Amino acid sequence: MIPIAKPYIGPEEQAAVADVLASGILALGPRVREFEQAFAAYVQSAAGGVACSSGTSGLCAAASVLDLPPGSKILTTPFSFIATANSIRYAGYTPVFADIDADTFMVSAETIREALDRDPAIRAIILVHLYGQPCEVHEIMELARARGVIVIEDCAQAHGAEEFGVPVGGIGDLGIFSFYPTKNMMTGEGGMITGSNRTLLDRCRLYIDHGAPARYQHTTEGYNYRMTSIHAAIGLCQLDRLPGWNDARRRNAHALSSALRDVPGLTTPYERPQCTHVYHQYVLKVQHRDALVAHLTAAGVGTAVHYPRTIPDQPFYRDQGYIGSACPIACRMADEVLSLPVHPAVSPADVQTIIDAVRSFTPTATPVAVGVG
Ligand SMILES: Cc1ncc(COP(=O)(O)O)c(C=O)c1O
Repeated sequence: MIPIAKPYIGPEEQAAVADVLASGILALGPRVREFEQAFAAYVQSAAGGVACSSGTSGLCAAASVLDLPPGSKILTTPFSFIATANSIRYAGYTPVFADIDADTFMVSAETIREALDRDPAIRAIILVHLYGQPCEVHEIMELARARGVIVIEDCAQAHGAEEFGVPVGGIGDLGIFSFYPTKNMMTGEGGMITGSNRTLLDRCRLYIDHGAPARYQHTTEGYNYRMTSIHAAIGLCQLDRLPGWNDARRRNAHALSSALRDVPGLTTPYERPQCTHVYHQYVLKVQHRDALVAHLTAAGVGTAVHYPRTIPDQPFYRDQGYIGSACPIACRMADEVLSLPVHPAVSPADVQTIIDAVRSFTPTATPVAVGVG
């Protein structure tokens, strides 16, 4: 089976972890600071970097330091992993959803402008660079700055992605990254907070360490969301390889798109001009999704659906009074999207297997039985 994700753990990672264990400095240590500096430099984050325990804890810290009145409205996308919206609730604010664009699967500057015009009470925005593609972040920043609205970039899926040659994560007031094992680079579990707003990033540094600028001096609210030296050591190895891995993802994606573009019943991913899409996921829009998944599984091709339900349509959000059908384009995309393997371990032969498997699908054919064991 060609898996949908395959984290790389090489001898360098193993040696780096062994070194940390031998040093005895497992929690905050030189490796964490080194990783923060190297990652912040890579994404050109003017305010620096704050390593944390996950993308989720980074998002929760970022939302929590905004210092807005309780219940303030924060605009975000309905089509993302649940952590994006949950972090708004975690910080005591109210998520508001703008519908997405059917080509990019993301909120656009236009949908953001409409939402801000409709509801001037919106105080902040959490954007998501979904599947590795930057959203219209520069244009959205202009809109937001003009209205005094804060912007957090959720870059959990977009390490190294660029709009107009500028990496995501340093454009908004704050940015967050995830280093979960399936991401473009990983640390096991882990995250990084970046951004252009030094005041907010300094608050995040306190927030992820019990609000303590010095030992047992707690000046603000905070928790233990720190990254360990073990995770940072893995991150430093992976960061070195990230540009090469992103190139491999892009090569695989372009090979898939040029071979699948003419296949009826599916749409290959749209790449925004003047952007570097780093293909965290390679996502088709398809008809007959269930039958295609069964066909691909039988052919040894792993697939996944990111995401089968919009956030407002999740039972928990419906219980809070959100209307499942409120973002109709996002709902339609939840029925159509299908991710194919695109990660760096997908070889040219694997790409051909995937192409042959997709091209041999006919919606009327009876799916081949999936072997077990
Ligand atoms: C868009 C998005 N935001 C946030 C997260 C949360 O990151 P983590 O799993 O590191 O907590 C993820 C992870 O899947 C994600 O894809």
